Amino acid sequence: MTRVGMTYDLRTDYLEEGYSEEQTAEFDQPATIDAIEETLGSLGYRTDRIGHVRALAKRLVAGDRWDLVFNIAEGLKGFGRESQVPCLLDAYDIPYVFSDPLVLSLTLHKAMAKRVIRDLGIPTPDFAVVEDTGDIAAVSLPYPLFVKPLSEGTGKGINEKSIVRNARELDARCRSLLEAFSQPVLVETYLSGREFTVGIVGTGRKARAIAVMEVILRENAEKGVYSLVNKEYCEQFVDYALLKGEEAERVSAVALAAWRGLECRDGGRLDIRADASGVPHFLEVNPLAGLHPTHSDLPILSALAGVPYRDLLGMIMASAEERIRPGR
Ligand SMILES: Nc1ncnc2c1ncn2[C@@H]1O[C@H](COP(=O)(O)OP(=O)(O)OP(=O)(O)O)[C@@H](O)[C@H]1O
Ligand SMILES: [Mg+2]
Repeated sequence: MTRVGMTYDLRTDYLEEGYSEEQTAEFDQPATIDAIEETLGSLGYRTDRIGHVRALAKRLVAGDRWDLVFNIAEGLKGFGRESQVPCLLDAYDIPYVFSDPLVLSLTLHKAMAKRVIRDLGIPTPDFAVVEDTGDIAAVSLPYPLFVKPLSEGTGKGINEKSIVRNARELDARCRSLLEAFSQPVLVETYLSGREFTVGIVGTGRKARAIAVMEVILRENAEKGVYSLVNKEYCEQFVDYALLKGEEAERVSAVALAAWRGLECRDGGRLDIRADASGVPHFLEVNPLAGLHPTHSDLPILSALAGVPYRDLLGMIMASAEERIRPGR
């Protein structure tokens, strides 16, 4: 029986170590870890909970080993925070599910990822990076613009005020994000068209889109943006619809080109939004997509496409096993 270690950032583990509510706000809920563990068990794997990177380090030094590690740990600090677990596992020659350190570092830095995406010829909004307040005046892109933290997820720092319409608003928003998140700010051309999120399973040529889901904001939602609040209370503010036909093909072609070009592995999600003339653009990729069975976008879109949670995890595991032991 394959022994699968599980690495993750459970909020309560960090709270016990003295980290604050805020520092740990985005970490995994017990329900997510329970669902993954139970599902892997039902797929015939023997699971072993490891926890965060330092728990992994202890176990490795103590001599513990696994056939495979299911890694969803996002880490606490630095552009390498999501790569820390994969780096350690590479050092001990232990294979793991999902992407490698290069991909996880590159995609955490949204601007660096966009430079590669642009080089691949994939549409993505024009952008500038504001490292400190001295960079704000040099931004010379046409308004409206969209302003967000460079390396966050789960809609952190994103609300109606993310859309800025003049230099005064740009200045205020950049200052407030620099202060709140202690990291550079990404300023992009605002895309006003329809918004989609695409679920991918597989690696390289074998990667495929499970579904393209349109994110439709209700009248009472924060307008023009799939924000932290809209995500948090999605049951109240958001309708999700499966996109079919030619439009879905165009959106999933952009997502797949980005997935393959960045060399993401096994499974994840890409956010794509159309400009005013309907051309789909790459916004970002989530190579460690949320896996809460009913609240995270990837399981939601899979379910809409008729792929139950168990099958989703089954396809992700099959991709990892195929990479590790090709032709088995
Ligand atoms: N350039 C843009 N133009 C229009 N809307 C944008 C732009 N960039 C981001 N958005 C809006 O903000 C949302 C969140 O942006 P993004 O996906 O980069 O953040 P995130 O917090 O990493 O998301 P996730 O929760 O998927 O990790 C998008 O889904 C979209 O609604
Ligand atoms: Mg996103």
